Amino acid sequence: MTDARDAAPGKTLLRVLAGETLATPPVWLMRQAGRYLPEYKAERAEAGSFLDLCYDPARATEVTLQPIRRFGFDAAILFADILLVPQALGADLRFEVGEGPRLSTIASNADMDALKPAEAVHETLSPIYETVGRLTEALPKDVTLIGFAGAPWTVATYMIAGKGTPDQAPARKMIAENRPLFDRLMTRIEAATIEYLSRQIEAGAEVVKLFDSWAGSLSWADFDAVSTQPIRRITAALRERHPTVPVIALPRGAGARYEGFAEATGVQCTAIDQFVPPAWARERLQSVGPVQGNLDPLMMVVGGDALDRAVETLKAELGGGPWVFNLGHGITPDADPANVERLLRAVRG
Ligand code: CP3
Repeated sequence: MTDARDAAPGKTLLRVLAGETLATPPVWLMRQAGRYLPEYKAERAEAGSFLDLCYDPARATEVTLQPIRRFGFDAAILFADILLVPQALGADLRFEVGEGPRLSTIASNADMDALKPAEAVHETLSPIYETVGRLTEALPKDVTLIGFAGAPWTVATYMIAGKGTPDQAPARKMIAENRPLFDRLMTRIEAATIEYLSRQIEAGAEVVKLFDSWAGSLSWADFDAVSTQPIRRITAALRERHPTVPVIALPRGAGARYEGFAEATGVQCTAIDQFVPPAWARERLQSVGPVQGNLDPLMMVVGGDALDRAVETLKAELGGGPWVFNLGHGITPDADPANVERLLRAVRG
């Protein structure tokens, strides 16, 4: 299918985030730079560790570009991690191979007192801004550069537990048992996130994304104060400093609470996980603004006809409105790069 609108110049992701409907949606994938790519694994091995890779602007630029070169995605996402903000605030952070992140924990006011102020994060994070600057030079002109950060709740879950947890119980316990300490931590993360994203934008990020990967574990009573409101305040602060830069938010697992989320937070685009029925998303979310999503990441492992059919279903449900094609969550290390090529053929026709 061809459409006259697709002939118009410009970056397709920015056009869709401004509300346009394109016959072929822009495509990028969460975690598109990563362990399913042999060239990523080689670069990481040379860097020594994942964190060394994040803080090396030349190497971080290279791994950001790898999936753009190989697949021709419409957007590149800065190579970094949401846990660099806690580290920049003074938390000890390490990534154990095969175990995931390990951080020093926040359990008392004394732990909070030991953290750095939000404005101090730039000391640690300046190599990330340099990576953004290099990417603005290196990327093809039609590829949009996305900066990102974790949303405060998701970052807090790691800072409180000191690691990833299946149900975020340590952080949810702190909400119930020590709300003043929890709020103190959230306020610090929020301020640091505004600082961090502002600098990414000043260095050249054209869109920013907030990952609230654990939004779904919040009870209904806490969701507004702990997920929605911090994202609203960050979006408003960025809007004031950088009025033209769109924000995408992923309140992953929000379920029925996806409805009204874009209005309540002011974000330009809601990213949906693979549990959101696309017909529901079309009616309740896309009628209000652009949506991004939501193919099951397992399709990048499975491939074949199942992949083609799943893409066709999404096109039928979401293709009639402003839509950014993505997975419902990150691509997994066992994904087959050949399935990503097949996906792009299916989406682009
Ligand atoms: O390509 C991209 O998407 C850009 C880079 C990126 C990474 N992490 C690199 C990474 C982005 C956007 C993230 C976001 C991130 N990091 C999130 C939010 C999105 C989500 O997946 O829900 C979260 C929760 C994290 C925290 C994190 N980082 C964990 C829990 C882990 C360990 C689990 C795992 O997947 O390995 C990481 C490590 C990580 N971040 C890797 C990469 C490429 C793997 C590190 C390695 O090379 O071994």
